[in-house]
Amino acid sequence: MSTLPRSQAQKSASAESPREHRTTTRSLSAHKRRGERFSMLTAYDYPFARIFDEVGIDVLLVGDSLGNVVQGIDNTLRVTLDEMVYHTRMVARAVRRALVVGDMPFGSYQVSPEDAVRSALRLVKEGGAHAVKLEGGVGVAGTIGRIVGAEIPVMGHVGLTPQAIHRMGGYRVQGRGEAERARVRDDAHAVQEAGAFAVVLEGMPADLACEITQGLRIPTIGIGAGVDCDGQVLVMHDMLGLSDGFAPGFVKQYASLGPLVAQAARSFAEDVANAKFPGPEHSYR
Ligand code: KIV
Repeated sequence: MSTLPRSQAQKSASAESPREHRTTTRSLSAHKRRGERFSMLTAYDYPFARIFDEVGIDVLLVGDSLGNVVQGIDNTLRVTLDEMVYHTRMVARAVRRALVVGDMPFGSYQVSPEDAVRSALRLVKEGGAHAVKLEGGVGVAGTIGRIVGAEIPVMGHVGLTPQAIHRMGGYRVQGRGEAERARVRDDAHAVQEAGAFAVVLEGMPADLACEITQGLRIPTIGIGAGVDCDGQVLVMHDMLGLSDGFAPGFVKQYASLGPLVAQAARSFAEDVANAKFPGPEHSYR
């Protein structure tokens, strides 16, 4: 926990932050109109959400990548709506300024639009999300429309959609070749026309993401989609060096927390073994 009182921490963060106001779906559109890039990071708990919010990350996505980076599963398919609600609540509790987007897990919106609206309502009412995200394009346009009709803002997600891992035959770049390109482009436009306020473009050639970004009114948020999207998103464990194993080529690692944490844990274990911890300063009299 920070030793700074919350109000003071907020003041110093906002003094350094280029954007002092709350992020809303409208402010993201305004960023696009003004040509200002914005940032999104995934977050799954209170302490990281608090830090990201305080330094001015615009959007916090409680991603179903939870399955990969927190639960240690090799895909996102087993993540449940109850788990997403639980993690969204922790993130929403920490946030003062960022837009909180709760990811709709596999199975929570595919059965029927009614079921999808019920799932989205849980993320907002129980989790405190300001918006929800779901994967797919033309095939989920009707569902997006129904959720938006229930006054819940929706972020789309097209291109490489991890919940379709078995259809795609693995995590493969999408939109290579003319037919594939047209399909991804149509998906992005369908999401916009259905009423989504923004769309994630994942795992596609940079020139396709650029073309889609220029052709849409709503902001695009890229991950493995080149520099020309309106915003960029990374999974926090990847960019902080906390993931084990394979990191995709599009990831830029901004810190190497894994080794730091390992060193701290090793030092603690050594101190305990050598009776160096707790010292008198850590003991009650
Ligand atoms: O679940 C997630 O973290 C995501 C991002 C990769 C966009 O969907």
